[in-house]
Amino acid sequence: MAGRAVKMRAMKRIVILISGRGSNMEAMLRVAASERWPAQIVAVISNKASAAGLDTARAAGIVARVVEHVAYPDREQFDRALSVMIDEFSPDLVVLAGFMRILTPAFVAHYQGRLLNIHPSLLPSFPGLDTHRRALEAGVKFHGATVHFVTPELDHGPIIEQAAVPVLEGDTEALLAARVLAQEHVIYPRAVRDFIEGRYTLTDGRVVRHSASID
Ligand code: GRF
Repeated sequence: MAGRAVKMRAMKRIVILISGRGSNMEAMLRVAASERWPAQIVAVISNKASAAGLDTARAAGIVARVVEHVAYPDREQFDRALSVMIDEFSPDLVVLAGFMRILTPAFVAHYQGRLLNIHPSLLPSFPGLDTHRRALEAGVKFHGATVHFVTPELDHGPIIEQAAVPVLEGDTEALLAARVLAQEHVIYPRAVRDFIEGRYTLTDGRVVRHSASID
């Protein structure tokens, strides 16, 4: 078209890793479609064949694969097999969504700056498992969820998004988990969309926001 410069942006490619239910993955699929992201979720990969989220992904027409950690003698070999599978899809971004594996430093280094995780607590409080029970036991008044870049230290990377929820009188682990999960489904898609739109970068180990997309 003469006289008209059309800037085409390449669709970013996202691979999502899950281990179970996959509600964060489902939220991401839903929001990506409804907001017409300039991105494609090219594959969902699970380390467990029984992960319910695999069926959800397939029903949405997404390629769903399994690489079972139990088939490998050690963490290093599993992580290598996993990254070979991930790299078949040439992702710009790898999203951990309830992926219940500790990752090797080599794996984390390979995806440095393009590997995100969501953790069900207000990090740096309560890294690791059983966050809702531990929050109740500690008597905190606020709990929540954190989206962060993955670094070799478990649940410790630079923070991208957080959502806080109140801890209410009479809360059970299940009630608190549900309140946090509802917020996870809001902040994780938003953090991923902002990543693909270049709205923040990692600078000196911290997340720096930009008012407009940088590419
Ligand atoms: C979420 O609470 C997430 O924060 C944690 O594992 C849970 C996964 O849930 N990492 P789902 O599989 O996304 O439903």
